[in-house]
Amino acid sequence: MGVRATRGGGVEIDWGVGSYEPTGELLAPVSEAVVELAGPLAGRTVLDVGCGTGNAALAAAARGAVATGVDPASRLLTVARERAAAQNLTVDFLAGDAASIPVGDQSVDVVLSVFGVIFAPDAAAAIAELTRVVAPDGRIVVTAWPPGGSMSVVNAAAAKFMGEVFGQPNTSASQEPSRAGTPKPLAWHDPEALGAAFAPYGFAVEVNRKSLVFESASAEEYLERSATHPMAVSADRALSQRPDADELRAELWSRLLAAALSVNEDPDGYRFTADYTIATARRS
Ligand SMILES: C[S@@+](CC[C@H](N)C(=O)[O-])C[C@H]1O[C@@H](n2cnc3c(N)ncnc32)[C@H](O)[C@@H]1O
Repeated sequence: MGVRATRGGGVEIDWGVGSYEPTGELLAPVSEAVVELAGPLAGRTVLDVGCGTGNAALAAAARGAVATGVDPASRLLTVARERAAAQNLTVDFLAGDAASIPVGDQSVDVVLSVFGVIFAPDAAAAIAELTRVVAPDGRIVVTAWPPGGSMSVVNAAAAKFMGEVFGQPNTSASQEPSRAGTPKPLAWHDPEALGAAFAPYGFAVEVNRKSLVFESASAEEYLERSATHPMAVSADRALSQRPDADELRAELWSRLLAAALSVNEDPDGYRFTADYTIATARRS
C-alpha cells in the first residue's frame, strides 16, 4: 500500500496527491463489513470520519442512512461527491479533520472510521471529538491494521527505510514512542489501549478481528498498482529531493518487494490475507 510515514519518517502524507482511488476500491469490502456490523441503518444518522473517496458513507446511504463524510483532503471529497451522484445517493461530504469534526454535539447515531482516524496526528483530540459527536445511545466504529499483520509488513518496511534515509527512527505510527512536543500515538487495534483512551469519556470498547484478501498477478504488479497511493507519492517526492534519489528509489523498491513476497500465500501468483481490527465503542 505504500509508505506510512506521517510521523517518524519526516514525510508528511498529502492525501490529495497521486491517486487514492485504486486503494479505495480494494478497501471497499471493509466499509461494507463495517456498515453491515452497524445493523439496520435506515433513517439513522451516520458519519464517516476520514471518508476518503466515500466508501463507508456511500455504503451507509445505500442502506437508507442519512450519511455525512468528513475528510481533510479536498480532492478525495470531490471524488466522493462524484461517486454519490453516479450512484444517485445523497451524502453530505464536508471538509474537516478528526480533531475538529464539523458536526454538532451528540448528533450522530453511528460514527464510522475505516482506516481514517488512525491517521489523525493527535489521537486524544480525535477521541474527544468522536465521543462528542456521537448520540447518547450511539456507537463509534473504527478499523485499524494491527502491527505484524500482512498489511503492516509492507508499510513497516517502507516506513523503516524512510526513517533510515531521513535520519529518524521509524515504525508504524501506533508503535512509535512519542517524542517531546508531539501528541502521544494510540494503538488503534489494541483493546487495552482503546479502553484506556475511551474510558474517561464513559465509553467501553470491544475489538473484533476480520481479514481482507488482496490478489494480484505478481508482487511486482501489486506494488506498481500501489505506487499512485498518496503515501507512496508523498514518499517519492521526499526522496526526489535527495541527490542520490535514483539509488534510494531502487533500494526502497527492493525492500518493498522483499516485504511483499514475505507475505505471499500463492506460489503461482500473488495473494495475501490482511487482518484488520474493528473496534466498537459505546457509552458504558
Ligand atoms: C487509508 S485512507 C481511508 C479512506 C476511506 N475511509 C476508505 O476506506 O477508503 C485514510 C483517509 O484518512 C484521511 N485522514 C488523514 N488524516 C486525517 C485526519 N487528521 N482526520 C480525518 N481524516 C484524516 C485521509 O485524507 C484519507 O482519506
